[in-house]
Amino acid sequence: MTILWKLLTNPSVLRKLGCCGIGGSQKYLFGSCLTRQTTRFSRKDRVFIGLRHCTTNAIRSDTSVPVIHAVKAKKRSELRTLILLAAPEKWTLMKAIALLLVSSSVTMAVPFCFGKVIDVVNTVEKTGMKENLNQLTLALFVVFLIGGVSNFGRVYLMSTAGHRITQSLRKQAYAAILQQETAMFDRESTGELVGRLSGDTQLISSAVTSNVSDGLRSAIMAITGVSMMFYVSPSLALLGLAVVPPVAVFGAIWGRVLKKVSKDLQSSIAVVNATAEERIGNIRTVKAFAQEKREIDRYSAKLQDVLKLCYKESLYRGMFFGMTGLSGNIIALSVLYNGIFMVSNADITIGSLSAFLLYAGYVGISLNGLSKAYSELNKALGANARLFELIDRQPLIPIQGGQILEKELSGNVTFQNVFFAYPTREKMPVLKGFNLNIEKCSMTAIVGSSGSGKSTVASLLLRLYDPTKGSILLDNHNLRLLDSAWLKSQISIVSQEPILFSCSIRDNILYGMESATDFDVEEAARQAHVLQFAEKMTDKLDTIVGERGIALSGGQRQRVAIARALIKKPKILILDEATSALDAESEYFVQEAVERAIRGRTVITIAHRLSTIKNADKIVVLDGGQVAETGTYVELMNLKHGLFKKLVKHQTFA
Ligand SMILES: Nc1ncnc2c1ncn2[C@@H]1O[C@H](COP(=O)(O)OP(=O)(O)OP(=O)(O)O)[C@@H](O)[C@H]1O
Ligand SMILES: [Mg+2]
Repeated sequence: MTILWKLLTNPSVLRKLGCCGIGGSQKYLFGSCLTRQTTRFSRKDRVFIGLRHCTTNAIRSDTSVPVIHAVKAKKRSELRTLILLAAPEKWTLMKAIALLLVSSSVTMAVPFCFGKVIDVVNTVEKTGMKENLNQLTLALFVVFLIGGVSNFGRVYLMSTAGHRITQSLRKQAYAAILQQETAMFDRESTGELVGRLSGDTQLISSAVTSNVSDGLRSAIMAITGVSMMFYVSPSLALLGLAVVPPVAVFGAIWGRVLKKVSKDLQSSIAVVNATAEERIGNIRTVKAFAQEKREIDRYSAKLQDVLKLCYKESLYRGMFFGMTGLSGNIIALSVLYNGIFMVSNADITIGSLSAFLLYAGYVGISLNGLSKAYSELNKALGANARLFELIDRQPLIPIQGGQILEKELSGNVTFQNVFFAYPTREKMPVLKGFNLNIEKCSMTAIVGSSGSGKSTVASLLLRLYDPTKGSILLDNHNLRLLDSAWLKSQISIVSQEPILFSCSIRDNILYGMESATDFDVEEAARQAHVLQFAEKMTDKLDTIVGERGIALSGGQRQRVAIARALIKKPKILILDEATSALDAESEYFVQEAVERAIRGRTVITIAHRLSTIKNADKIVVLDGGQVAETGTYVELMNLKHGLFKKLVKHQTFA
């Protein structure tokens, strides 16, 4: 109550709530768009996304408007975009609304008809009464039947439209997530993104369907109910409706308070989910360190924080419903009290008083329904803003668009004075003036101590990140100007810890090369020594490898990854060797597979094995974010105080 009092007496608190809303969401609006999004959308999607852009940009650029106006404008535009979401379903929704009108009319006729039934029982003599009663009951039954069928149709149509909107939103959100540059995934947790994909989409679609439907039904019931109350008895109606203005003001203020609490609650639930997802996803590490109990405690502690917010929300919710219920009941009591006097004075019949009370009840219920729809709508507006920050976000590195070289790529790679720091660690540069020239069809080994930036060089060449300064050239073409998808079709990588998907070995090999034939798959599998172990499995190449390829050994996983890289017949092959020691047999097969793979292409190997390094045409030693030494194995070993020599001496290589 103290908070309510503060809110009522101090408008700045209200303003602050409003400011928080826009300030918070503006904080999440992503920065300038460096590149154009080029992914294809259907016409409908484009229109829709375009509209979204208009509204979002309007919010972004309109900084001179006073805050209150900005809040209103933002809310209006959010509401508009929410309504636009329902546009593809307009016909279904209209049919549902027509049915809603029918079913609501039936519901609203009930008190009136019941009042008539009561009066028939009270006034007409026995024989006539039975006949009238039968007729009225039969008519009411038919009307109820129509109402029932309409209600069924309304719920069915609204809910199927809702499911379709959810699907379409999920599709857009998933597409938006996958199109973002890698750096965004370094910042955002998987749990948070999945949360937006599942929870927010659901919330939004139900707002524009079932919420609209329930809200509309409540509104119709409230308007008809009030009209009928005035029709039956204006004086009682005025008395009964005395409750509405204070409850409405109270409801509007409380709606804002609840919105803020719900937002905090949603955020803390997202944090809890992210924790659970990460721990369950890495259950083997948890178990290897016997951290089950610790993790359960950690999760419980986070749940405790959520619970505190839940208590707060429950308290506010309880206060709201307690207050509104109490005011409603007090008014009902006073209406009954006055009504009975009016009946005794013959100013109103018992049937009319009963009908009046039922209408008053309906109005109470529908006002309750309206406030519920309003609070759900507020929740959906929050979710909508969150989701569309993601959908509207322009990826800094587009997944398509740019130059596609017509001439066959020869495979020359040049790093020109490249500076790079990961966006999450901008103050810790990994590369500081990195220069390297890689000849076509040569094999270059990049060596250096752990964390020196070897894998980073590979990520930059694949354009998972863009350099902070400097440029990377492929056959003298700047990587930034090339089509990303085309670029990736020319380069294959076997990463340090290859991750497979939970499908068959065959599907994993085919990943990124779905057009390949069975023969290609078998050829790649043979070259990478995958057939060696797959043949021994009951389902051969169709064996399912489990989540992240967990049902294969480390060496087997690497060989599947090599086959997956080879099937693309890439011009450039990047091999980021795993540091983990493989057993002798696996090591032999992986080595063999690698040797076969490198023939006739530019190979960059981030080498940990001395045998690979010895075979390289050029060895590049990375130190302090720069190339410290280059040369062949013999040349580098001959340098008196060479870094490479030191690395070999310290047995950095196996
Ligand atoms: N996604 C990332 N976000 C922030 N920092 C990162 C990220 N990936 C790597 N780093 C940091 O960048 C530096 C270089 O990492 P990189 O993976 O390139 O090392 P590396 O030479 O491949 O090491 P290793 O031999 O152990 O594989 C390290 O200090 C690492 O902590
Ligand atoms: Mg590495």
